Amino acid sequence: MERTCLAVILAAGDSTRMKSSKSKVLHPVANRPMIAHVVDAVAKAGISSVALVVGRNAGEVSKAARIGGVEVEAHLQKERLGTGHAVLAAREAIARGYDDILVTYGDVPLQTEGPLKAARQGLAEGSDIVVIGFHTSKPAGYGRLLVKDGELIAIREEKDATDAERAVKWCNSGLMAINGRKALDLLARIENSNAKGEYYLTDLVEIARSLGGRVTAVDAPEVEMTGCNNRAELAAIERFWQERRRHELMISGVTMIAPETVFLSHDTVIGQDALIEPNVVFGPGAVIDGGAVIHAFSHIEGAHVSVGATVGPFARLRPGADLGERSKVGNFCEVKNGQIGEGAKVNHLTYIGDAVIGAGANIGAGTITCNYDGVNKHETRIGANAFIGSNSALVAPVSIGDGAYIASGSVITHNVPAEALAFGRARQEMKPERAKAIRERAQAIKAAKQAKTE
Ligand code: UD1
Ligand code: CA
Repeated sequence: MERTCLAVILAAGDSTRMKSSKSKVLHPVANRPMIAHVVDAVAKAGISSVALVVGRNAGEVSKAARIGGVEVEAHLQKERLGTGHAVLAAREAIARGYDDILVTYGDVPLQTEGPLKAARQGLAEGSDIVVIGFHTSKPAGYGRLLVKDGELIAIREEKDATDAERAVKWCNSGLMAINGRKALDLLARIENSNAKGEYYLTDLVEIARSLGGRVTAVDAPEVEMTGCNNRAELAAIERFWQERRRHELMISGVTMIAPETVFLSHDTVIGQDALIEPNVVFGPGAVIDGGAVIHAFSHIEGAHVSVGATVGPFARLRPGADLGERSKVGNFCEVKNGQIGEGAKVNHLTYIGDAVIGAGANIGAGTITCNYDGVNKHETRIGANAFIGSNSALVAPVSIGDGAYIASGSVITHNVPAEALAFGRARQEMKPERAKAIRERAQAIKAAKQAKTE
């Protein structure tokens, strides 16, 4: 039978070093709060019950942690008395009786399901405690894993360690799996007689051993166990996250010419054979289908780009932009809540907002859909194969029929039937020789001025 598991996520920290008005676990990595990344890793490890230990911004933190498919129950830790005390804030949930208790931190957003699963596997194989450790060349600040005769015998906090113990480079990530049937008994035995006067979760190692229990450790990659304490670490975590995700996308068949300049969101989807040029930024909700080309300096958020479409350079796709197959949105164009039909072209300096554009339509340079009257938004519909001449303003609500032709520089306020030609501009007038007369008059004025100053 499958083992039951409760994940206890510690997120009650004061975030002092973040120098922030909000809890650090609310700060985003890849446009998603840190805490949501952690819940996601827990969910991917096959765990669907979460006890979230919160302090500051309890409501907001719980809300950010509620991602689909996971049941999140918040427990308030009223005082910060240490990691052992924090886990006990979830006493009620633990008391329901799970096979496994997995303790993890809300400020370690790069963690993945791998080490979490490995720790649970250790419990399944008979350990009472499985510590997730990592190796680092810079162990300062971490608890050290102390080994004797091949067995993990204790975790020593930096402040309580001897010089010899401080030289150890195998560190405690803070993440730990605990036998769920024994957890409450073990946790209740933690005391606070140490340098910080805190209840250390790490004491469980010695406690479990003193009761004859088995304690083991599994290893995690150092990068995954990086915790976030300040904004510089937040930026480093973002960089790691971006590098990892770009790598995954490239391995899955996406071409990036200068991957280090491409910024992804947690949910960015890019299909095989898509080409992403340098300096492209994906906000949340971008879906790029296979074979699409995103030229340099484009910004894409909440938008879908179909197979074979091209975007940019310097294009901005905002929420609700939906580009059909082989369509084109070119330089200095912005599309918001706009459908661009198959093979349609919006090539230069254009704003498309609240619009539906039919297949094969051609939208000339400088076209503006005037969708906002200062109060309400209105829709523009442009039919298949319509041609909109450059520098036209389409004042919504308005509809242009299939195959219609709009003369350049028009301001269109009335619907245009299919196949019609519409002009909405002043008629051109011609004054023969008038240019010459104007120029001669201007030159005469200038000459008169110069004569005066001499
Ligand atoms: C802890 C570990 C240390 C490990 C390090 C990894 C202990 C005693 N030490 O040390 O071995 O190497 O993490 O980063 O466990 N928290 C609460 N309530 C509390 C205290 C902490 O929710 O009362 C949360 C914090 O928000 C944080 C996590 O627990 O997410 C770790 O707490 P922190 O005080 O940063 O522990 P460290 O001293 O870094
Ligand atoms: Ca810490």
